[in-house]
Amino acid sequence: MDVISALEQLAPELEKGLAEVASSEDLEALRVEFLGRKGRLAAIMSTLPTLDAADRPKAGKCANEVKGKLTELFDARKERLLADVEEKFLKGFDPTLPGRRPWEGSRHPITLTMEKICSTFQSLGFDIESGPEVETDYYNFEALNLPPEHPARDMQDTLYLSDKVVLRTQTSAVQVHTMEKRRPPVAIVAPGKVYRRDSDVTHTPMFHQVEGLMVGEHVTMAHLRGILTAFSQAMFGAETKVRFRPSFFPFTEPSAEVDISCCLCKGKGHANGTPCRVCKGTGWLEILGCGMVDPAVYNYVGYPEDITGFAFGVGVERVAMLTYGLGDLRMFFENDSRFLRQFA
Ligand code: DAH
Repeated sequence: MDVISALEQLAPELEKGLAEVASSEDLEALRVEFLGRKGRLAAIMSTLPTLDAADRPKAGKCANEVKGKLTELFDARKERLLADVEEKFLKGFDPTLPGRRPWEGSRHPITLTMEKICSTFQSLGFDIESGPEVETDYYNFEALNLPPEHPARDMQDTLYLSDKVVLRTQTSAVQVHTMEKRRPPVAIVAPGKVYRRDSDVTHTPMFHQVEGLMVGEHVTMAHLRGILTAFSQAMFGAETKVRFRPSFFPFTEPSAEVDISCCLCKGKGHANGTPCRVCKGTGWLEILGCGMVDPAVYNYVGYPEDITGFAFGVGVERVAMLTYGLGDLRMFFENDSRFLRQFA
């Protein structure tokens, strides 16, 4: 009987095929060929209804047995294949190898620098203050004694949100907020973001400042010198020399810029006979602006006339570049994880 012998051929042929199986893909191909809906067993079974009624029960029984046998062969091979894969994996697996550590996040160098600046002033008795990044013209300019025609108010530098509202261009605005809500004596630092319409190799439209303010009775320029010298030496090392250079800011009188001795050439201006690349051969690096608060500012905030004090503004990116010896400001803002990881 053709059907029976065709059925009986299937198991030995599947066995031959299974012996050559090398992967689960091979195995699946064989399963489809023999046991699939359009496979060889199904093809034979579809002919059963055409048999004589007398032959049908025997052929049907045989077909069921073959199906059972094929499934058994197939399952056994599958189990062995899985065992092989596991064995191979375990052979190449060394349980004594150390695990792989996931990357830990770290704080941004600008954050680290800002925190170091602030904690240095906190240790000198200063409080931390903050103010809004969206400011009115009044706080950012007018109350800081910047008259309407002052060049710093130029559309070129300031990002205006409307006629009288700006993104603050300087943390000096926090001085005004602080003096409005606190009576002297006051000693604060205010870290934060500032914004300017400026973008090139040495400028970014957003950067960070730490503002400082100390006002009370009998606060003098000597205090300013003492505090900023202590700050500079805490940040850049005890051997750091500090120089005050006359300058101008609308909200301080007199005003100065503070230079520190160059951290690379130690103030010599040159290394091995060539001009120092960090200080450009001068031996000095500018790190902040400062001065005695102009009495005009006290008028705006309603402070009495016998109050004196000083203010200063530190550029955080500048200090961070000097601290970490970086030559390119843009690295801070590209967020390349290879760069950031080094500060973990
Ligand atoms: N606000 C100034 C700037 O952005 C920096 C500054 C200079 C702040 C002198 C001060 C100061 O408080 O007294 O360039």
